[in-house]
Amino acid sequence: MNSAPLILGIESTCDETGIALVRGTELLTDVTATSMDQHVRFGGIIPEIASRAHLESFMPALDTALDQAGVTLNQVDAIACAAGPGLVGSLTVGITSAKGLATSLGVPLYGVNHVIGHLAIDMFEHGRLPDRFIGLVASGGHSNLLLIENIARSVTELGGTLDDAAGEAFDKVGRLLGLPYPAGPHMDRLAASAENPAALRFPRGLGAGKDKDRYRYDFSFSGLKTAVSRHLTQNPDADHAEVAAAFSESINDSLSAKAVRAAVEQGCNTIVVGGGFAANSRLRQLLAERAAKKGVEVRIPPMRYCTDNGAQIAAIGALLVEAGASPSPANFGPDSSMDLSEIYVS
Ligand code: KG4
Ligand code: ZN
Repeated sequence: MNSAPLILGIESTCDETGIALVRGTELLTDVTATSMDQHVRFGGIIPEIASRAHLESFMPALDTALDQAGVTLNQVDAIACAAGPGLVGSLTVGITSAKGLATSLGVPLYGVNHVIGHLAIDMFEHGRLPDRFIGLVASGGHSNLLLIENIARSVTELGGTLDDAAGEAFDKVGRLLGLPYPAGPHMDRLAASAENPAALRFPRGLGAGKDKDRYRYDFSFSGLKTAVSRHLTQNPDADHAEVAAAFSESINDSLSAKAVRAAVEQGCNTIVVGGGFAANSRLRQLLAERAAKKGVEVRIPPMRYCTDNGAQIAAIGALLVEAGASPSPANFGPDSSMDLSEIYVS
């Protein structure tokens, strides 16, 4: 009989309804339902559709998770749900459901930060996170560098994108090249297929001159998008694979160089990468090469843990319970632009 606390994690920031159960710091099950197929024809997430899909998926996903873990609802000791950042309607469904469950079960509820969850989840794959590390979170909605000094206690945002997120830029440029939404994975494959990947070079946002120092840990990808668009207008016969490769190189050069710079400057030996963009093959290559040169370890969870899921929320919940943190106040609500230094609503 294992007496470690049983934590239920609930994710509903965007188009994935995620439910996970964690015993102590061991992941028992992780169930995800996505509404992506309902958004594809619009070329982007439609918030109203996403909210409704959460409502429809929540109870079936919860039942499946309990079933798979072989536990009952009244064995749950604490609940964690995503409080932000994300879509207000989607978050509201998850938070309201979590409050109902927590009240009826009489257990504490933690409203946690979804972005920090993208890093915390690596504990299920590669073991406990080091006390100090650099987090790189890259997805369709985020591109951030974080300094973590004990993930249950202190997170500092070092920088982030001033405009588009990395995945968002891939999706937008993919559309220019006629690829289906979400275009990130298609762009990745197209870029890797270029016969001469170095044929073109696009600018690096905030990579030179005064910007390089002033925005040490920030990114900007919208100028790059404009440069690609101009190139395609001026060169209607451009080789799409070469364009994709040069575009991908610009983004991944910035992400990997700044993540490694942050690790060196902040005295961290580890970089943890999270978010759907962590799938990008060139990012993985460049980060591995550059970090190895500086003696920095790179931890990337497997892909099923990089896209949005309940386990990333349960991971933070488990660490907060372990740290003896007080639950969130009863009146907390969704925070669409939740500050990245706020680990949970306290
Ligand atoms: O984390 P995620 O599943 O959803 C959120 O944005 O929260 O990330 C999805 C994003 C999309 O923009 C998608 O195009 C991008 O990540 N993406 C990729 C790759 N796989 C997913 N971008 C570039 N290369 C990839 N291999
Ligand atoms: Zn996410």
